[in-house]
Amino acid sequence: MDLLGLLTHGELSIDGRLVVASNVTLVGRVEHGDRQVRCVYKPISGERPLWDFPDGTLAAREVAAYLVSEAVGWHVVPPTVLRDDGPLGPGMCQAWLEQPESDAALRVDRPSTWVDVVSEDEIPDGWFPILTAVDENGDPVVLVHADDPGLRRLALFDAVVNNADRKGGHLLCADPRVAGNTAAIVGVDHGVSFHDEPKLRTVLWGWAGQPLTDSERADLERLRQACAGALGMQLETLLDPTEIAALDDRISALLQAGTLPEPTGRMPVPWPVF
Ligand SMILES: Nc1ncnc2c1ncn2[C@@H]1O[C@H](COP(=O)(O)OP(=O)(O)O)[C@@H](O)[C@H]1O
Ligand SMILES: [Mg+2]
Repeated sequence: MDLLGLLTHGELSIDGRLVVASNVTLVGRVEHGDRQVRCVYKPISGERPLWDFPDGTLAAREVAAYLVSEAVGWHVVPPTVLRDDGPLGPGMCQAWLEQPESDAALRVDRPSTWVDVVSEDEIPDGWFPILTAVDENGDPVVLVHADDPGLRRLALFDAVVNNADRKGGHLLCADPRVAGNTAAIVGVDHGVSFHDEPKLRTVLWGWAGQPLTDSERADLERLRQACAGALGMQLETLLDPTEIAALDDRISALLQAGTLPEPTGRMPVPWPVF
């Protein structure tokens, strides 16, 4: 049984709940024979109702995000499946990526590895300032992120899937033990993606308005073709037809504009930012 099979059909047991999470987000294991992997399990029954997304649809959106990432070969989402059963009923199940405690080569502990809040005179060279705020002492601080190709890939992915919640804490390091196939920087929590209206909210605005590279253009072209083929068919079971059409429109609009998206007014940033 491969990893996706294990996540879908393995015996799922719960080890704990992520208390920072806004929905019922559980950490557990799936097992089959002598194979076992850690996983995140988000039962649909634990989804907090939202005013702008239809109830009970967040799990399917997380799976759709994984399928888009795989279809274009970006590998920026851990393997994610829908389960029709589980201790708390149907839901999404995603491979858990074990995170390093900290990385000595980087300035600070994760998740501030790529996204950080610094004082105004401390912005590291080459980092993008995104948002200025005032800290608890009344001093100005700036939300910044690194100019990193892995982050840029996620910024483009978020534009494609219309991610309404790209926080710093939704960025993880790859875990080669689980998914040797993943990119170095991986995103999680794509439950509020694929709305058919523009909702992009992210901390990764650093490349707003910058021209797409040739390889990004090629990726988007390939993705557009996938939407017209096998990917589109897979998405039909997960998203509303208007949302699939909107995905196609966003890809076309990105290609037509030839740039990473640029907000018309202020850069919409999720809250909290981590
Ligand atoms: N697949 C995963 N591997 C490792 N850590 C994860 C994974 N999914 C989520 N997490 C951690 O758990 C936190 C909460 O999960 P998240 O998906 O954001 O839940 P919620 O939908 O309730 O906000 C994330 O910010 C991240 O730190
Ligand atoms: Mg979250």
